[in-house]
Amino acid sequence: MKLFDPHVINGKLPIDNHIMMPPVLTRLATMEGQVTEALIDRYMMYAGGGVGIIVTESISVKNQNSGRMMRLNEDKFIPGLKALTSRVHGETSAKIGTQLIHFLKISRSGYWQKVEDLSKEEVHEIPNFFAQAAERARIAGFDAVELHFAHAYTMSSFLSRHNHRKDDYGGSMINRLRLAVEVVDATRKAVGEDFVLGARINGDEFTIGGNSLEQSKQIARRLAGLGLDYISVSAGGKFEDAVLKIGEPLNPYSGYSGHRTIPPLWMPEKVNAHLAAAIKKEVNNAGFNPAIVSAGRIPSAFVAENILQNDEADLVAVARPIVCDPNWPKKSREGREIDMLWCIYCNRCREAQAAFEEVSCFQWKKKNGTIEPPAP
Ligand SMILES: Cc1cc2nc3c(=O)[nH]c(=O)nc-3n(C[C@H](O)[C@H](O)[C@H](O)COP(=O)(O)O)c2cc1C
Repeated sequence: MKLFDPHVINGKLPIDNHIMMPPVLTRLATMEGQVTEALIDRYMMYAGGGVGIIVTESISVKNQNSGRMMRLNEDKFIPGLKALTSRVHGETSAKIGTQLIHFLKISRSGYWQKVEDLSKEEVHEIPNFFAQAAERARIAGFDAVELHFAHAYTMSSFLSRHNHRKDDYGGSMINRLRLAVEVVDATRKAVGEDFVLGARINGDEFTIGGNSLEQSKQIARRLAGLGLDYISVSAGGKFEDAVLKIGEPLNPYSGYSGHRTIPPLWMPEKVNAHLAAAIKKEVNNAGFNPAIVSAGRIPSAFVAENILQNDEADLVAVARPIVCDPNWPKKSREGREIDMLWCIYCNRCREAQAAFEEVSCFQWKKKNGTIEPPAP
């Protein structure tokens, strides 16, 4: 199967197979944004299961507090992350990248800050935040950096048709792309040409009036032209259609768009693959060849292989099935499906992360109250 053949990301980074574990928040960092032993142990479990490359959960580029999320806005965060990458590199053959995020304020009143609320000075700070964090990520030993340009967060909100800023960072597509272009350029300068730099974008926002595949294709083409090494295609996850729960911050994964990001069982398998396929065609036709990654309800090696054989993507991203059984790649390769703990897409992991609680698989909970991941 092509899925288990080695791959080299954009001629730079060899990986064992075509399987990426995309970012999945663990909520295992400290409240101050530092790595913990439990977090390292968790990533070791994922890395030891045979995945080609893990992209860690999002790490904040700013001094922002968000319930046990890692940060990389100061050098003091480098040693903890170095401990993580050293163990992954020392004890497994997996590669490890990290996702960098900038997000705006939300509060329990249901308020969410919008890109229109940022002053020009605040906007101008953002490329530097990403660039400096990326440089620290490289020093910390990561093999790649992924810019989070998807879902509800700052960069995706700038790219969105919902961005109604009146200055040259909003309105037209060229203006909405401006900040993303500045971020990619600044980050590339910081990490160097030889380092793998990717971005995660939405293939479709799935909100009324937001970006559809049409806008996403233009965005992907522009970003690919800047020399990104991979583009990971996600979908949805917006505040615009989030369901407000009184007393809780708005959860961008609670509305229909959020269901397209983390699809429940009732959605079809590989529900977002057509978005990656269209984006791949668009950027390839424009003469660019970043690796295109598809994510979203890819339950089995069979479905993953189908995506690769159809040329819908260059790599497949498998999140919840690997949270459920970290040995998903190894067991699939060895034909040991019988030993697999299969993800049932119940989304208890999604609920845990939204509640700022440790993310694990609900199926790990035993009747006697202990928590036990499946045997390797
Ligand atoms: C608990 C949880 C946390 C997640 N955290 C992130 C994140 O930090 N950044 C991100 O881009 N996507 C995040 N995602 C989305 C996943 O990367 C992935 O795209 C999504 O779960 C669909 O893939 P799957 O169907 O294989 O689970 C998260 C998903 C879950 C379930």
